[in-house]
Amino acid sequence: MNHQTPIDRLRRPIRDLRISVTDRCNFRCSYCMPKEIFGDDFAFMPKSELLTFEEIERLTRLFASIGVKKIRLTGGEPLLRKDMPTLVSRIMQVDGVEDVGLTTNGVMLGAHAQALHDAGLRRLNVSLDALDSELFGRLNGRGVDSALILKQIDHAVETGFEVKVNMVVQKGVNESEILPMAAYFKDKGVTLRFIEFMDVGNDNGWSFKRVVTKKEIYERLAEIHELEPVDPDYFGEVASRYRYKGTQSEVGFITSVSESFCSSCTRARLSSNGIFYTCLFAYKGFDLRALLRGGASDEEILSAIVEVWEARADRYSDERTEQTARNRKKINMSYIGG
Ligand code: GTP
Ligand code: 5AD
Ligand code: SF4
Ligand code: SF4
Repeated sequence: MNHQTPIDRLRRPIRDLRISVTDRCNFRCSYCMPKEIFGDDFAFMPKSELLTFEEIERLTRLFASIGVKKIRLTGGEPLLRKDMPTLVSRIMQVDGVEDVGLTTNGVMLGAHAQALHDAGLRRLNVSLDALDSELFGRLNGRGVDSALILKQIDHAVETGFEVKVNMVVQKGVNESEILPMAAYFKDKGVTLRFIEFMDVGNDNGWSFKRVVTKKEIYERLAEIHELEPVDPDYFGEVASRYRYKGTQSEVGFITSVSESFCSSCTRARLSSNGIFYTCLFAYKGFDLRALLRGGASDEEILSAIVEVWEARADRYSDERTEQTARNRKKINMSYIGG
């Protein structure tokens, strides 16, 4: 079954699908799941609401038949979902899927890295916002030591994964960690990506004043390291990449705030309960689970996906102002999947 790739109203094809497999997480990063909102009594989704592996596989097959080639598994924390290696191997076998990655906070990698590798997964993006233990413990909201995550990253590399590290930089919070993080991961040959703090969700206290831009980070790095730009691997790659001259180590920047990249955004998102979103900053999505569970045929589901994509005109980051950041209602990132 192969159909034409739908093109949205801004002439962007659909190429990537980010699948959130759970809305739960064992961290409470303030920019994503602030403790005050996601407390002990927060109502996460009951299991019956989550798409089953069969449902995820079926949707992946349908998305792949219209041109999706890259899949990213996210959460919440995806490794909290039982049996992820099984899901990985099912997704890897879908015709047309060329690349599968998983984004994790790394805590549970020790227990799962080998099985994920055996299932065919090769790419892991691990979030880590500081090397300093005390600061990292505060940032993750659970007192987890950075040494544990560093150990898990080493273990994943030894297991054979290509690992990238994501660091969300917030002004006055973890700026002091920019250079130590860069030096540490340069030596390890692991790509570090600096992510500009974004106004995801409705509760993370974002303002332009709290963003450290790529330009500021780059200037600090360039005082110490000689950097040369690296061409993107594919159209629409999110990170802008640089190599430390004379090495194979790279560093990247994800500049959603200072240099938005909506014009090449080919990413669709599927929440853990099967709602299809066409932007990270969307508020409303399309309920694919209702179609799945209502007995719709593949053709009916495909037509719905194509219709939603063809109607898409999202370019939130291109248009972001303090006003939209504050007033626009958005879905929480742990739910929609980063
Ligand atoms: P690869 O390049 O395939 O390794 O993955 P990735 O960078 O797309 O995935 P990852 O999950 O590591 O995302 C890194 C950061 O980029 C996260 O903070 C995401 O929220 C952000 N990001 C990814 N896609 C988008 C997008 O479409 N829009 C915006 N604004 N941010 C995005
Ligand atoms: N701004 C920027 N990045 C964020 N992430 C989560 N919340 C935000 C935010 N408000 C990042 C995480 C993870 C990735 C999936 O998204 O650190 O690396
Ligand atoms: Fe969990 Fe990732 Fe959100 Fe932190 S950013 S709370 S690790 S889902
Ligand atoms: Fe894509 Fe929306 Fe991010 Fe722009 S803001 S790059 S349209 S997900």
